[in-house]
Amino acid sequence: MTQRIAVIGTGTIGASWAAIFLARGLDVAASDPSPEGEAFARRFIANAWPTLDKLGWVALGASPDRFSFHMDPAAAAAGADFVQESGPEREDLKIKLFATIDAAAPPETVIASSSSGLLISRVTVACKHPERCIIGHPFNPPHLIPLVEVVGGARTSQTAIDKAMAFYRAIGKHPIHIKKEVRGHVANRLQAALWREAVHLVAEGVVSVADADAAVAYGPGLRWALMGPHLTFHLAGGEGGMAHFMDHLAPAVQTWMDDLGATRLTPQVQQEIVAGVAEEAGSRSIADLQRWRDRKLIDILKVSDSP
Ligand SMILES: NC(=O)c1ccc[n+]([C@@H]2O[C@H](COP(=O)([O-])OP(=O)(O)OC[C@H]3O[C@@H](n4cnc5c(N)ncnc54)[C@H](O)[C@@H]3O)[C@@H](O)[C@H]2O)c1
Repeated sequence: MTQRIAVIGTGTIGASWAAIFLARGLDVAASDPSPEGEAFARRFIANAWPTLDKLGWVALGASPDRFSFHMDPAAAAAGADFVQESGPEREDLKIKLFATIDAAAPPETVIASSSSGLLISRVTVACKHPERCIIGHPFNPPHLIPLVEVVGGARTSQTAIDKAMAFYRAIGKHPIHIKKEVRGHVANRLQAALWREAVHLVAEGVVSVADADAAVAYGPGLRWALMGPHLTFHLAGGEGGMAHFMDHLAPAVQTWMDDLGATRLTPQVQQEIVAGVAEEAGSRSIADLQRWRDRKLIDILKVSDSP
């Protein structure tokens, strides 16, 4: 039974992972070399707890007190049933860190990296047991967002993938299995594809930054909170569903696809986007916008089918 989770690296992502693991009634053994690491994690967990409670995600017997902190990552990983690594996004650092965790954790324990874009095949080059290592890529903040992308490397076993998928499901996440290692996994690539076109349209003077955002947030984004683009177009096909959508609209959509831009993020384009966002944000500070987003996010999570 999975009971003790090692959280290695307790920054933005690690502290948030620790909060949801604890809320699900698990023990967390954490490690971070920063002198601020422990205090940051404890503060983060305390702040997240009332939200998790409001969402009904706190299991019976769960407690923030089931958090322990160890300066040595090997001490946190020893005896862990699952390891979630969330150290800095640097391949050289993760290679060393994975070698340390791999040497300390029981050989059947799955070691997952939160990495946003590194390849697990490379991160595990110094591991004795690379077969139990995977990417378990969350979305910020992991204590609230259900998606986890699970990616195996060239030497990952199917058993490790199955165990990771089952573990994330058991704690109320929505894991998806990515069958091949690709840069940025899947969700970040999808975000990049949409953003590339938004930047292109701004750079070409077709639309302002604020209106490009409105075109997502007040339109398709509302449906995307409930279902992805395929199911959305299945419904756009009426009674005939996706098959009719393809018959009717595929040729038109193909012409739009063929016309999409490939603008690059040159310094000039970056400047234009930064200025456009400043105008869009107006007097709202980043903290104001964050508070507003998190409140609304909780409302959306309450009505969605997640946990
Ligand atoms: N921030 C995001 O939106 C996001 C989303 C998904 C995944 N990720 C991934 O999560 C990981 C962590 O990102 P973050 O945003 O939390 O970064 P962060 O800078 O907030 O946290 C990194 C933590 O790692 C600690 N650290 C430094 N050296 C370490 C070592 N040798 N061993 C263990 N810990 C060490 C740091 O002290 C820090 O607390 C990265 O791989 C990143 O790609 C980030």
